Amino acid sequence: SLSDELDVDFCFEVALPLVKQAGQEILRGFENKDKEVQSKSFADDLLTETDRRVEDLLIAKLKETFPSHRFIGEESVSSGGKFIASTAEPTWIIDPIDGTTNFVHGYPQVCVSVALWAQNCPQLAFVFNPVLDQLFTAKKGRGAFLNGRKLSVSKTTDLKQALVGGDILAYQNEVDRLEVSIANAKSVKAIARAFRIPGSVAITLAYVAMGGLDAYFEQGPKSWDFAAGVLLVTEAGGVVRSLLGEPFDLFGRNILATSTEPLADQLAAILKPFPCEREGGPGPYKF
Ligand code: IPD
Ligand code: CA
Ligand code: CA
Ligand code: CA
Repeated sequence: SLSDELDVDFCFEVALPLVKQAGQEILRGFENKDKEVQSKSFADDLLTETDRRVEDLLIAKLKETFPSHRFIGEESVSSGGKFIASTAEPTWIIDPIDGTTNFVHGYPQVCVSVALWAQNCPQLAFVFNPVLDQLFTAKKGRGAFLNGRKLSVSKTTDLKQALVGGDILAYQNEVDRLEVSIANAKSVKAIARAFRIPGSVAITLAYVAMGGLDAYFEQGPKSWDFAAGVLLVTEAGGVVRSLLGEPFDLFGRNILATSTEPLADQLAAILKPFPCEREGGPGPYKF
């Protein structure tokens, strides 16, 4: 099959300069104080010209080299593009800007997230924050890196000593989701040392990979938010599961990522699920 012949090193070499170019576009937009900002489904669901330009650039250039590969990109999907909830075949999963709200406000936690999945596993990952010049990369089975330096998760096993990341994001129609995520943040903080909200799923996962956060949980994000970050965490020695401690599902819209197994167990025991619809329609959805 196609994925058996996948040359991950070649894919990495092709994608790397494109990810850097995407970063330059994001930086240019970040520094422009007169950005045009649109709303998508709800007032706080933001879109800028840079989100579109970066996604179009990455997909067009990757397609030149990989015409048979599949693509999932946030802005293509949200503008009516075809969505395939499968990564059996080589599939590039792209979030052109993760942290668009941060981008619009000039808060420097923004990145481009690019992952290649095949045979239902992440094969390579890029998370690049051009504002802080932090390039996180990983190849399956060969470690995770920040600007070329190898990363390891923290050794924390006790939730009482953990710094935990997440988000309490919910759009205007999602009062229930807001309540559940605040309740979860509250019950985690009752035990953990402190709670942090970077505002980008991909960056939050990168911080777990580098040991800056001990754990992260969230419900609501989509495949493009976590596709790259999950490989960074596992390649840095960490654990990725569903919010309730079950196997991670890329399209299941919830995640629990920790540095160690005991931390994942402790969090899974106290977190409550909120029923987000599975991406791509019904499926083996547990909540
Ligand atoms: C969002 C960010 C945010 C998360 C949301 C995502 P976007 O992505 O990652 O941290 O809480 O669920 O949608 O829209 O900035 O690409
Ligand atoms: Ca978005
Ligand atoms: Ca995102
Ligand atoms: Ca985005």
